[in-house]
This record gives sequence, C-alpha cells and structure tokens, in this order.
Amino acid sequence: MQILQGGTYLDSLQIRWTNIAQGIELKKYGRLLIFNRMKIAIINGPNLNLLGIREPGIYGRQTFEDFLKGLKEKYPEIQIDYFQSNVEGELVNELQRVGFSYDGILLNAAAYTHTSIAIGDAIAAIKTPVVEIHISNIAAREEYRLRSLVAAKCVGAIAGLGLKGYELGLQYFL
Ligand code: DQA
Repeated sequence: MQILQGGTYLDSLQIRWTNIAQGIELKKYGRLLIFNRMKIAIINGPNLNLLGIREPGIYGRQTFEDFLKGLKEKYPEIQIDYFQSNVEGELVNELQRVGFSYDGILLNAAAYTHTSIAIGDAIAAIKTPVVEIHISNIAAREEYRLRSLVAAKCVGAIAGLGLKGYELGLQYFL
C-alpha cells in the first residue's frame, strides 16, 4: 500500500472510509492511504506581540514564540499556524483567510474583544469554529473588559488560565 502525507494523488476517486483520530485524518482512496494533518489557526490581536515584557504580573514572562515552540513540539500531528496583528482589519482578513479551510481557530482578539463589531461579524461569517481565548481573567479586571463582542459568535471561551488556555482550546478540537 502506498502512503503519502498530505498527498493529493488519487488512486481511485471512491472514498472507502475516513477515520479521524488525534488530529490525523486518514482517507483511503483505492490502494492509496492519505494522511491529512488537522489545521488549527492561532490568531492574536493587539499588544500580544509584547508578551513576556508587557505587564508580566498579568500576562506572565513567557514570549508567545517560546510558548508556541513548545506547543508545536507537544502536538506534532497538528498543523498549528500563528498570526498576530495590532491592526483590526488584518485580523478580519486572517479570519476570512483561514475560516473556510481550517479545522479550528483560537482567537485572542485582545482589546478588540471589547470593541470590534467587525471581528464579531467575521467570526459569524466564516465556517471554521472559533474558541475565544484570554490569558487573564477578564471577569476580574476593569468593567469595560466584561463585555465581549466576539463571545456570542464563538463556540466557547477560555479566560484566566494563562497561556495554558491556548492548549486547552486546541484540545477542544481534537
Ligand atoms: C486579553 C484581555 C484583554 O482585555 C486585553 O485587552 C488584552 C489581552 C487577555 O489575553 O487576557 O490585550 O485578551
């Protein structure tokens, strides 16, 4: 039997069976077995590029790049793609880009969580389910952080568990 990773060559167009386990989708086309890695997008909003030096008492001392390296090592079977922007429209563009082909999105819209109708609308417009992530416990901070304009469009939310929240969000999609 021929085995390919992420292959597109089809021995036969007839799909005999599909099995999704631990982030790997196996499809059998005739005598050809194809591995499709699950695709998860992490999208971070404004100021999250400064993790590690930004208000460490609230957000911790680890950079996101360092955290991401560990996450990718722990879940090699999953394709984890990362995007960060300080610009609202770029976050909307990225949601639209990944939102019809990825298996899941972990979105920390940061301050735009509390202000952005456009990001909420983008989540409602796409097909891929989105989990809202916050590093800090937004329920225990300033009153203006209590309102989320993305929450109702997401499948769920994780807040206050530090960077671990991204991993827990990822596990939701497995
Ligand atoms: C945050 C919480 C937001 O209120 C804040 O504006 C952020 C980060 C968090 O991850 O805790 O920038 O989304």
